[in-house]
Amino acid sequence: MSTPKIFYNDQFSGEYVSRDEIELYNNSIASAEKMLKDRSGPGNDFLGWIDLPRTMKKNVGVISQKAEEIRSKTDVLICIGIGGSYLGARAAIEYMSSTFEDTRKPRVLFCGHSINSDYIADLLDLVKDKRVSVNVISKSGTTTEPGIAFRVIRQWMENRYGKKEAASRIIATTDPSKGALRKLADEEGYTTFDIPSDVGGRFSVLTPVGLFPIAAAGIDIGKLLEGAETAMGFCCGDNLENNLSGHYAAVRNILFRKGYTNEVMAAFAPQIHFISEWWKQLAGESEGKNGTGIFPAALDYTTDLHSLGQWMQEGVRNVFETFMVLKKTSRTLCIPKFDDDSDELNYLAGKSFEEININAYRGTLLAHLDGGVPVSTIELEDRCADTLGQLFYFFEKAIAISGYLLRVNPFDQPGVEAYKKNMFALLGKVGFEKRRKELQEKTKEMEL
Ligand code: PA5
Repeated sequence: MSTPKIFYNDQFSGEYVSRDEIELYNNSIASAEKMLKDRSGPGNDFLGWIDLPRTMKKNVGVISQKAEEIRSKTDVLICIGIGGSYLGARAAIEYMSSTFEDTRKPRVLFCGHSINSDYIADLLDLVKDKRVSVNVISKSGTTTEPGIAFRVIRQWMENRYGKKEAASRIIATTDPSKGALRKLADEEGYTTFDIPSDVGGRFSVLTPVGLFPIAAAGIDIGKLLEGAETAMGFCCGDNLENNLSGHYAAVRNILFRKGYTNEVMAAFAPQIHFISEWWKQLAGESEGKNGTGIFPAALDYTTDLHSLGQWMQEGVRNVFETFMVLKKTSRTLCIPKFDDDSDELNYLAGKSFEEININAYRGTLLAHLDGGVPVSTIELEDRCADTLGQLFYFFEKAIAISGYLLRVNPFDQPGVEAYKKNMFALLGKVGFEKRRKELQEKTKEMEL
């Protein structure tokens, strides 16, 4: 097991959240933990994620072997999926790989997370002379966005390689027994990976949903799981001292009850961007229901300090901020010295970008605190797989606890059905005729 490589520090919230207030949450954390352990809380049929760092270990060999086979015959792996069937893998690959896609071997490119002809057509142009494999990922197997993207990509693969070779280059990750994708995969003879039925999409990064594309990108998934297992040690205690996730969950809930209803996750390294995207889905879909929930937003610093930094400093004071700071980059560049100093930057000569960035972070933190924003920080030791495994688990556990503190079921998402039903009705899907009529009236009135 690895040593803890992520740290949560709420000392900067002191003005807004006192130690006593946090300690009053000890009982609530203990009871949320108990509900998760006893499987007695809402959504208890979706708690398979809790043990994944251990239960998934046995699958590492098979997943890594298939990933190696695909790596040996692939320049571009196209991953098709949306929401929880996409964001975790992207977060991991962006965090751990070299920053620019062109230097990655193979490149893992994503689609099926939007509805846009140009995106897919441009993607197919890009890969036309490359060796391509596909990983289509959908737990339900019936989600429209990845479903229609896969139709186009599958047709392209079959035209390019012929049906048999195409089938050997397509891997489907889906429910073990149900759904249209499972049926299609079995009929076509694709290699398949199962998504455990007790793990929901946004908690599935440590299943083959995330593990296969991450392994195909050349990342050590054993280390990722090892990190997550380490986090089980420091995110599962029954009080704030031995439960880092509980600590973070308590702070955000205290702030929410004081009117700080929005949380901004502010990343101080470009490689963290998609971790924030993944977190946004995890938090938003888990908590935003029954008229409650902390609204999760994400910013990238320092770039967004030159746009939304103004809002953060002086806008409505209903927001708290959690910084994500990377302690060690993989390489270090220092600012060169010029004798003429015509740009007046010699005072920075010899300093690394990280030395400057850490002071940008400190400066921002102090400024936002002065501006009335409660702030706290998650420090990430490095860009290694075990560190990210710890972070994934820390957040999953924190959001599960936080959802229970908010008295919602963190593991369902009834609200996402509303747009789907309307879209199906408007597109004329069988079974939605009544809704179609109602919506046609409305769209006429609204001149939509
Ligand atoms: O967290 C969730 O359950 C969702 O975000 C799903 O992951 C997303 O809607 C994709 O669903 P599916 O994997 O069934 O295509």
